Amino acid sequence: MTIDIVTIFPRMVEAGLAEGVVGRACAAGRIDVVVHNLRDFTTDKHHVVDDVPFGGGPGMVMKPKPFFAALAAIRARRGTPDAVVLLSPAGERFTQAHARRFVEKAHLVLLCGRYEGIDERVREALATDEVSIGDYVLSGGEIPALAVVDAVARLVPGVIGDEQSVEADSFTRGLLDYPHYTRPAEFEGRRVPDVLLSGHHEEIRRWRRDTALKRTADRRPELLHDAALDADERALLRAWDVPGVHAERQNKGSK
Ligand code: ADE
Repeated sequence: MTIDIVTIFPRMVEAGLAEGVVGRACAAGRIDVVVHNLRDFTTDKHHVVDDVPFGGGPGMVMKPKPFFAALAAIRARRGTPDAVVLLSPAGERFTQAHARRFVEKAHLVLLCGRYEGIDERVREALATDEVSIGDYVLSGGEIPALAVVDAVARLVPGVIGDEQSVEADSFTRGLLDYPHYTRPAEFEGRRVPDVLLSGHHEEIRRWRRDTALKRTADRRPELLHDAALDADERALLRAWDVPGVHAERQNKGSK
């Protein structure tokens, strides 16, 4: 898949793309990420990308024209993108479901805003989606764009070596992950749970399922509403007196 990212801080985004899973995915050609400097799409001498807000008030607003010009250049080069995602604290909360939807797109464009905001016409005319990575305000959309690229790249076939580890990931089933341990079996007086040393695969599977479920019930009970739970898991939640888990739902698959 191809991802175009439009930003006024291309080096910041490029640095984030260079390492780890995303860096390897780019190097292997599994994803093609192109970073565009928004200032390259200005026509004035000082490459100005912001202006004062109509109606007054503090701060600056990002001008529409450079974004429209950037999108026109991307379209001219690679055709109309399948989705144009604006990163903004006012967007829908980005979830694993968005990542699964975005990875189906062959060509994604991410627009990073800065300053107090972005001219509303960018949102109206260019963006197909607007997402926020959480209820806090960052200085711009660059870190959120990197978060989106990372979450999406992990889902591209072949990017994560062991496909099972994507399957077991937190949120792949809508649950938090189970606890992980490696050697040594005892460290600073803390022992790894015996079941993990037992070699009983079925017991290990059950322990992992139960601890993932318990963690989710304790920390993020709201996730249980949409999780793909089987009858055993529902019975466990009832045994633990987790409220709101009553009727059997249709199995939603790996949601
Ligand atoms: N830009 C500033 N804050 C943001 C957030 N939380 N998510 C996405 N984009 C942002």
